Amino acid sequence: MDSVLTLLNEHATILAIESSCDDTSAAVIKDGSIRSNVVSSQLIHAPYGGVVPELASRAHQQMIVPVCEAALKKANVHYQHLNAIAYTAGPGLLGSLLVGSSFAKGLAISLNLPLIAVDHMKAHVAAHFIDEPKPTFPFLCLLVSGGHTRLVLLRSENEQEIIGETKDDAAGEAFDKAAKMLGIPYPGGPLIDRYAKSGNPTRFKFNTAQMTGYDYSFSGLKTSILYFLQDQVLKQSSFIQDNLPDLCASIQFTIVNYLLKNLRLAAEQYQIKNIGLAGGVAANSELRRSIQSWCMASDRQAFIPDFQYCTDNAGMIAMEAYRLYKLNSLVNLETKPYAR
Ligand code: KG4
Ligand code: ZN
Repeated sequence: MDSVLTLLNEHATILAIESSCDDTSAAVIKDGSIRSNVVSSQLIHAPYGGVVPELASRAHQQMIVPVCEAALKKANVHYQHLNAIAYTAGPGLLGSLLVGSSFAKGLAISLNLPLIAVDHMKAHVAAHFIDEPKPTFPFLCLLVSGGHTRLVLLRSENEQEIIGETKDDAAGEAFDKAAKMLGIPYPGGPLIDRYAKSGNPTRFKFNTAQMTGYDYSFSGLKTSILYFLQDQVLKQSSFIQDNLPDLCASIQFTIVNYLLKNLRLAAEQYQIKNIGLAGGVAANSELRRSIQSWCMASDRQAFIPDFQYCTDNAGMIAMEAYRLYKLNSLVNLETKPYAR
């Protein structure tokens, strides 16, 4: 490995693989710029109302070779041009992570290339550094997806700190579980967003938990929505159907304001002018609008990566891998994936 280490510099072509949940993805990064980002999303889970881990692993196995080949082809890169192989080491579904990590290790052995293990959460943050304009430091990032809700403070490219985190459900899960109570199919987040457009966001009030510091908790909100709906449906069985846009708008308004509250507090306390938003929930129109208008009103700048880099994708894994590559942060074949 020593001879490989001495060759490392800023010039590198890396193939990155993402398989932590229900998207099989591969990307090629060359000298810090993304050349391809191919994503195959698994549709097989829709009838189950959530991701079925065993089905996810099998689908990754089916798709990993074609997805990697497509990413190389799109980037016009051949296996012999690669300088390193990167993969998502965690967190995620263990079976899914094993498919990606085993495949990456096999490639690294057969091509005699160094391996880079990427943390999926850090990669979501790294997505901000793919396209221009890139944020300068210090930079505060709200990371919201189906599996994660986090506030991350970056003091420099290589110094990041988690300053707040959810203690139970993620923001995306809160959207999806609320949607399920309203009879909206999984994943319900995008449909809540759509119905909310014609609803009144202040008509119904729901409780959110007061946490210490910048942490979040969504389980109280879930209970508050459930009890409210049960009460109303007892009085009027068609309550949900009759009030769907107002219910969606009010739930969305509650979640967005709750997310914004800690983000604003942290930005003020740490005096941060550069604000990021990442993860699948970054697609939410009200969340984007609220962050952008708050940033504009408070002389801050909002950074929201291109949508293809917000949801799970290997482009962000490649970007984070490039940072690690420049630090010579490589792993060996014994490195194990981690679920949490
Ligand atoms: O990052 P992501 O694609 O995947 C994982 O977390 O694995 O995020 C998916 C989450 C789902 O919970 C989905 O409901 C939510 O993002 N989501 C949205 C919207 N689009 C996606 N939630 C609210 N509004 C949206 N427009
Ligand atoms: Zn993710």
